[in-house]
Amino acid sequence: MGFLLARCIIGAATLLCVLPPCQAKFTSKFYGKTCPNLGAIVRSVMAPAVAKEPRMGASIIRLFFHDCFVNGCDGSILLDDTPTFTGEKNAGANVNSVRGYEVIDAIKTQVETACKATVSCADIIALASRDAVNLVGGPTWNVQLGRKDSRTASQSAANANLPGPGSSAASLVSAFAAKGLSAREMTALSGAHTVGRARCVLFRGRIYSDPNINATFAAARQQTCPQAGGDGNLAPFDDQTPDAFDNAYYKNLMAQRGLLHSDQELFNGGPQDALVRKYSGNAGIFAGDFAKAMVKMGGLMPVAGTPTEVRLNCRKVN
Ligand code: HEM
Ligand SMILES: *[C@@H]1O[C@H](CO)[C@@H](O)[C@H](O)[C@H]1NC(C)=O
Repeated sequence: MGFLLARCIIGAATLLCVLPPCQAKFTSKFYGKTCPNLGAIVRSVMAPAVAKEPRMGASIIRLFFHDCFVNGCDGSILLDDTPTFTGEKNAGANVNSVRGYEVIDAIKTQVETACKATVSCADIIALASRDAVNLVGGPTWNVQLGRKDSRTASQSAANANLPGPGSSAASLVSAFAAKGLSAREMTALSGAHTVGRARCVLFRGRIYSDPNINATFAAARQQTCPQAGGDGNLAPFDDQTPDAFDNAYYKNLMAQRGLLHSDQELFNGGPQDALVRKYSGNAGIFAGDFAKAMVKMGGLMPVAGTPTEVRLNCRKVN
């Protein structure tokens, strides 16, 4: 009886998704009957991965952002290129940059063993990124589930939608507004740059040419990011607590120690200054806003009519 009821509900949800616009019923209990251990499985892979390499937490958080900003949170970023298919992995903002694909694969393998052909790769990224934030010391939240995986990906949309490190404050605001996210949510989500690393090639212009930079900080960064060469050399976004999810990002901005030009744009005499001051003075307000904004970003959906499925292997369509 319980089984029949569950089948009926799943059938109804699937039916709704056949008719555009697809209104998937998102709920944190989506897999409550069909994959009750999902949360524990995801955490059991994420915890050792982050313990082994704390940067992996940062990398998975970014993977979620780059999935969601390109045609919604649909696992499209995970599709490998093939001779006849060009996806998002080699888009400018992703190639040689986004990492953590093997961790998502490892989670998917365990999830498939426990609950065959049930849980989307897009939902796995959403859960993994929630755990990533929490495992490096940040807040936690309930993840809304029920996403499907796209059977397509778009390199051109990735190139067009993902903001670059040279962005102005105004273009950051508009890139997020294009996704239904406010300037406040943009500023909160940018706080993810309290963890992780960036390559010299992406901040060289700032440390040699920007006027609004702390001289001590610029000199320190120049040590490992020469004017010529060393493009791939890494520096932490937050050199005080590089692997801790705290509000140091905003404190750094107030000391003109933002690593990317786009980071410092959030504290440069403009409309985001007041919020940066607030977050730098109150870690709790930042953590709350960040969690809420992650849930909202996680609600970005592919456009109606996009063919979707629950992928069996996150790297290729079924
Ligand atoms: C506001 C606009 C944003 C811009 C311009 C931006 C840009 C960048 C750039 C250039 C890097 C370094 C990439 C590399 O060195 O290859 C980076 C790394 C990172 N980004 Fe962003 N980002 C933005 C927003 C976000 C958001 C919203 C999140 C998550 C909520 C995020 C999370 C991260 C993380 C955690 C890293 C470090 C990843 C690692 O170490 O593997 N970023 N970002
Ligand atoms: C520059 O950064 C140092 C920390 O390295 C800090 O003590 C100093 O106050 C900063 N300078 C300015 C002008 O904010």
